[in-house]
Amino acid sequence: MIDVRNISFSYGQKAVLQDVSFSAGDGEVVGILGNNGAGKSTLITCINRVRRPDSGDVIIDGLSTGSMKERDIARLIAYVPQNTEAVRISVFDSILLGRRPYIRWGMGREDIEACQAVIERIGLGSLQLRCMDELSGGEMQKVMLARALVQKPRVMLLDEPTSNLDPRNQHEMMAIVRDMAREEHITVLAVLHDLNLALRFCDRLFFLKDGRGFCCCGRDEVDGGIIRDVYGIDAEVFAAGDRRFVLIGG
Ligand SMILES: Nc1ncnc2c1ncn2[C@@H]1O[C@H](COP(=O)(O)OP(=O)(O)O)[C@@H](O)[C@H]1O
Ligand SMILES: [Mg+2]
Repeated sequence: MIDVRNISFSYGQKAVLQDVSFSAGDGEVVGILGNNGAGKSTLITCINRVRRPDSGDVIIDGLSTGSMKERDIARLIAYVPQNTEAVRISVFDSILLGRRPYIRWGMGREDIEACQAVIERIGLGSLQLRCMDELSGGEMQKVMLARALVQKPRVMLLDEPTSNLDPRNQHEMMAIVRDMAREEHITVLAVLHDLNLALRFCDRLFFLKDGRGFCCCGRDEVDGGIIRDVYGIDAEVFAAGDRRFVLIGG
């Protein structure tokens, strides 16, 4: 349902993305992986038109986003950037901001209810009256996820959503993401560095190397060879029951 086709992008003379293509289905969680500087964040922002790709197209539910209005894109795609600055508003208000693409004259009961439902789902009830600038990095990441979810998007772009989280919260966060993707038929593209987390929670993994798509494969198809080629490190993939995990280093 999202088709990323032949995206190229340069910062000035510096080519960062070259002919990047992949697609993702309804309710699917696709991890975007690759070394620092590979172009993951740039790709994410080309997909939601924060940046305008030099060439290529992004098709969602059969429609090209190239000619869409900003407001229409905002209803289709939610984006959680890598870093967000804390501002002095309450958690509840911050989540409510996710409803902006739907609000015409002022917020209504529907907007409030959408927020309450997501707050309950993610377990943010005890934080909702706190101020954003009084949260830990991990709490903030959960609030940003909640804001993306109340947007009721078709596609959710998450740039390193677990970077500030302890192991327990990483798993909790990714489990919520995966379950919400399935329940709400949202396609999730998540930039992740933790290969084991990706193998656990993503349906497929898209590897970027030096601005080019290296491969897009099901999590069961990821092997040591791919990881060695993409990251330039020694790695092996092992299976334990129906789980797979990566061991890095020889
Ligand atoms: N605003 C910018 N202007 C110029 N170069 C940039 C800018 N943002 C990122 N880059 C460069 O583009 C490349 C890809 O960056 P980025 O997409 O952030 O990679 P990743 O998210 O995979 O770490 C890097 O070499 C980075 O230095
Ligand atoms: Mg990045």
